[in-house]
Amino acid sequence: MFNLRNSLLLRTQAFIDGEWCNADTHKTFAVKNPATGEIITQVADLGVTETRRAIVVAARTQQVWAQKTAKERSQLLRAWFDLVMQHQDDLAQILTIEQGKPLAEARGEIAYGASYIEWFSEEAKRIYGDVIAPPSVDQRILVIKQPVGVVATITPWNFPCAMLARKIAPALAAGCAVVAKPAAETPLSALALAFLAQQAGIPGGVINIVTGADSAAIGSELTGNPLVRKLSFTGSTAVGKQLIQQCAPDVKRITLELGGNAPFIVFDDADLDAAVAGAMVSKFRNAGQTCVCANRFYIHRSVYAQFSEKLIAAMNLLSVGNGMGEGVSVGPLISLAAVKKVQVLVDDALARGAHIAYQATLDLTEAAQGNFYPPTLLLNVSPDSALTRQEIFGPVAGLIAFDTDQQVIAFANDSEFGLAAYCYTQNAKRIKHLSEVLEAGMLGINTGIISNEMAPFGGIKQSGWGREGSLYGIDDYVSVKYLCERF
Ligand code: SIN
Repeated sequence: MFNLRNSLLLRTQAFIDGEWCNADTHKTFAVKNPATGEIITQVADLGVTETRRAIVVAARTQQVWAQKTAKERSQLLRAWFDLVMQHQDDLAQILTIEQGKPLAEARGEIAYGASYIEWFSEEAKRIYGDVIAPPSVDQRILVIKQPVGVVATITPWNFPCAMLARKIAPALAAGCAVVAKPAAETPLSALALAFLAQQAGIPGGVINIVTGADSAAIGSELTGNPLVRKLSFTGSTAVGKQLIQQCAPDVKRITLELGGNAPFIVFDDADLDAAVAGAMVSKFRNAGQTCVCANRFYIHRSVYAQFSEKLIAAMNLLSVGNGMGEGVSVGPLISLAAVKKVQVLVDDALARGAHIAYQATLDLTEAAQGNFYPPTLLLNVSPDSALTRQEIFGPVAGLIAFDTDQQVIAFANDSEFGLAAYCYTQNAKRIKHLSEVLEAGMLGINTGIISNEMAPFGGIKQSGWGREGSLYGIDDYVSVKYLCERF
């Protein structure tokens, strides 16, 4: 199944205190290839006891890690980045086989994840304090920034490399140690990254990876253990709300990157070819399984027909299949349950008056084995359908026509989510207005791709708290201490 240059990257044990370990019970869980349904391997199935042990290790190690100079931490992160990029092809292969995304996209995710490690290796040296003007001449006010302590991370299956790197790298840069719980569907990418961190010389205990199928039990320990001072979670809003409650008794710091429902707005003056290109990449990246995917398409009535024709032509070029296959651009969904959920949303839209303008034909032998959903375009979608209210997480685009700016802004903001939004227009005045009124943490203006390590990633409303990446991304991992000196 694998053809790795470095087979040591394929780890099936958890990683605690610099050691590769089995569950105390010796239990394992199966990791499956979503494109074929085959079991890839068995992975150590840890529980509460081992999670608690990892937290104690991290608490001890964190004290030592925080004493290193910023430059030492920076150099170790840089060495890790270099190794990740050197192993990009192998890591991409592991990612595709456990997650399903096409190999080229997986290579892109490895580079994307690595870019956070590189970025925070640089930021590690720039965690500056302040000197503030005091209220009297015999005083001096200083501000220093200190690591928050042990950080727990819970990461999703849709970006098993990038989301882990986006959380661990700033934590390490700030002087924190980490206990990471990767999604049970995709633990292999996390373990491979931990292996490379070890090779890079990052001391044992600074990064601990707790693999396990019982996410609720491990999550309870991560949120309930007072030694953990911060949680960083990427996942659904429903689980995020639960984690907030679990973190409340200890008043833990929390960074949350939760669900999205991105509007994608095409105005009458848009460059339609650019809008279609943006729609394709925003909608079909990772088979539609990203939090920032275009989820609702609002197209000005005067360009609706032209836009949909161009979109159908572009969708016709998509090739659905096993991500390891040559030329495949849309892989499987993560599970059969995910396929069924998308079908429920499509059925609801159809019942409310939408019709299918395009649907790819699947190769039935492959579709029967894997969790595939055909790229689908729905026209005449009702603004009230579940497809526009819920995160689709699948390769389905639903188009709604609009007539005025005011109307489309109201449509776009009519959601409890506020992660990303996209708009296509050439009008500078309109861009300025949209920039101010659209309720989202991130706005793509004439672009369908907004993610990079230099920009602050995060949402407003029920899409989360805090920002990841960029110069803001370190803030959630440090505490501000004010020193009042009197002379
Ligand atoms: C996500 O879907 O949670 C992350 C997507 C991204 O970083 O672009």
